[in-house]
Amino acid sequence: MTQPIRFHINDKPVQAEAGDADMALIDFLHERQDLTGTKFCCGIGVCRACTVATREKGDGVLEKTLSCSTPVSAVENMSIYTVESLGSEQALAPLQQAFLENFSFQCGYCAPGFLMAATAMLSHLKRAPVPASQLDAVMETWVGGNLCRCTGYVRYMEAIRKVALPYTLGGGVAL
Ligand code: FES
Ligand code: FES
Repeated sequence: MTQPIRFHINDKPVQAEAGDADMALIDFLHERQDLTGTKFCCGIGVCRACTVATREKGDGVLEKTLSCSTPVSAVENMSIYTVESLGSEQALAPLQQAFLENFSFQCGYCAPGFLMAATAMLSHLKRAPVPASQLDAVMETWVGGNLCRCTGYVRYMEAIRKVALPYTLGGGVAL
């Protein structure tokens, strides 16, 4: 590959030099974009601390992607969303606010991975809501593999459930 690799990060167009094609996406985020919110831990696709959200097409739903094990070449033409995309200077995103209010994390190292996996989950629920009774199973699929060394996961799950419930059938707001 000799051409630059073009994609979007947090809705901003970026391009990677061809020489960075094999670089792990997380390294590109840290070293080329100064986006250090995504955390590196195991580096082998197990802990999910490095999860970012990705979208293949303009209006497609978000998926979760492990940035430690995804080369830059694999995200050509895609949109990448990192924890820096959430919230604003004025207000946290609902998931961030719920994590805070629920005392979901301690050291917080795993939080960006939980946030972005849950953000991708919400994008699916908004597009295709499931019955509220299935929400726990859906949450297990989307964030059940994210590891946390500090907490017992219960407060993370409670916070995510609180934010996601309105997007389920029979779980809150009219859709
Ligand atoms: S750093 Fe552990 S899965 Fe990526
Ligand atoms: S809060 Fe410390 S690793 Fe999860």
